[in-house]
Amino acid sequence: MLLKDKLAIITGCNRGIGLATLNAFVAQGASAIACIRSENPEFAQHCQELAARHGVSIDILPFDLTSADATKEAVARIVGLRRRIDILVNNAGAASGALFQMTTQRDLRQIFEINFFAQLQFTQSISRLMTRQRSGSIINLASVAGLIGEPGMTAYGASKAALIQATRTLASELGGAGIRVNAIAPSITHTDMYEQMDPAARERLIAASALKRAARPEEIANVALFLASDLSSYITGQVIRADGGIL
Ligand SMILES: NC(=O)c1ccc[n+]([C@@H]2O[C@H](COP(=O)([O-])OP(=O)(O)OC[C@H]3O[C@@H](n4cnc5c(N)ncnc54)[C@H](OP(=O)(O)O)[C@@H]3O)[C@@H](O)[C@H]2O)c1
Repeated sequence: MLLKDKLAIITGCNRGIGLATLNAFVAQGASAIACIRSENPEFAQHCQELAARHGVSIDILPFDLTSADATKEAVARIVGLRRRIDILVNNAGAASGALFQMTTQRDLRQIFEINFFAQLQFTQSISRLMTRQRSGSIINLASVAGLIGEPGMTAYGASKAALIQATRTLASELGGAGIRVNAIAPSITHTDMYEQMDPAARERLIAASALKRAARPEEIANVALFLASDLSSYITGQVIRADGGIL
């Protein structure tokens, strides 16, 4: 029970890596504030069953992270719960693939909006709560695309590189308040995002990895579990590559 009695906020947890993270955290004893973009009865049913099975609470909080007002309201609801926030997983994100000369300013701005600006706005508010309690672990879902120069990844890769750099800066600013900030850089992972990728780009990255396969979402969730738990208590400001060995 690595996360017994901890409370985790996880964004984008209705599917993919976020859902695997929610499942893994709750199975390890965490209660959760499950942030999703919009109401979803199937997800609500899943959360009810999951919470009952593991004897924890799951509060669902629907809001669009790219809306500054909706995010402020969501933060107000979190504050209203008057609970200690131990973990924040900034998982929600969007992909985009286009060669640089075909990348529009609109695409660039849209991708940065969700993958960077929205993450920072939400993190700023939650980290203030963590600062008051003098503890916390923040985990940013970046990407190996933010570390390597893969063709077709100008917008997505740059947004994730910006998130990685913010991870390091936040870690150095917040460490004194007992808050750890780390990033995970997955490569190709079997989620809906996998289906959106150009198959040739996907196969190239898989072929470039030592393990020669895509990750399962649970394999990325396990890295988040490590970073969320006290097992990583002396790790901050790091980017953990979960890329099957792109060497
Ligand atoms: N899959 C990969 O190969 C891969 C590789 C490297 C990094 N990553 C990163 O890992 C994270 C999770 O990826 P994934 O593959 O699980 O993605 P996914 O299956 O496409 O799910 C994305 C999640 O983000 C949510 N989201 C997107 N925009 C949002 C917004 N404006 N407000 C609130 N929620 C929003 C989605 O909500 P809706 O369901 O409402 O759309 C969904 O829950 C992302 O940050 C991604 O960049 C993924």
